[in-house]
Amino acid sequence: MRKQKDASPDPTTAPEQTRLLVLHGPNLNLLGTREPRYYGSTTLAEINRALAQRAERAGVVLETFQSNHEGALIERVHAAREQNIRYMIINPAAYTHTSIALRDAVAGSGIAFVEVHLSNIHAREPFRHHSHFSDLAIGVICGLGSEGYLLALEYLLRRIATE
Ligand code: DQA
Repeated sequence: MRKQKDASPDPTTAPEQTRLLVLHGPNLNLLGTREPRYYGSTTLAEINRALAQRAERAGVVLETFQSNHEGALIERVHAAREQNIRYMIINPAAYTHTSIALRDAVAGSGIAFVEVHLSNIHAREPFRHHSHFSDLAIGVICGLGSEGYLLALEYLLRRIATE
C-alpha cells in the first residue's frame, strides 16, 4: 500500500514562522470616515488586509489587533510576549500622548517595534507632539497616511531577512 503524504508539516521539524503583531489604538476602528483630512479614507480593514497580504508573500505570520480600551491593548502586548512575537508595529493613537501604562507594557515585553502615525503629529496641536513610545521604538513613521504601516512592514521584513 502506498504511504499517504501528510499535507501538514511535522511540528517537531518545521521551522517556526516569524510572527509580527500590528497594534492599533483607540478610534482607529473608525478609519475611513474619521477626520479624513488627517487620516485619509482607507479603512482599518483595508490597511490590515494589505499588511497581511504583504506579510504572507514574505512567509511571515502577521496578526492585527485594535482596541478602544487601554487594558485590552496592554493585555495583548503581554500575550505577544508569550506568543513569541518577533516585532510589532504600533499606532497607539491617543494613548501615544497619555499612556504610561501601555508604554510600560511595551517596554516590559522587550519586543522591538516601529511606531506609526497616519498624521504628522508634529504639525498638529502641541499636545500631540510628545510620544511616550518614540524613545523606545526602532523608528517612527508619521505623516505618510496608511502607507506608513506598509513602509514599517517593508523595513521589518528586510530586517528579518538579514537576521
Ligand atoms: C494618530 C495621531 C494621534 O494624535 C491621534 O490621537 C490618533 C491617531 C495618527 O495615526 O495620526 O488617534 O496616532
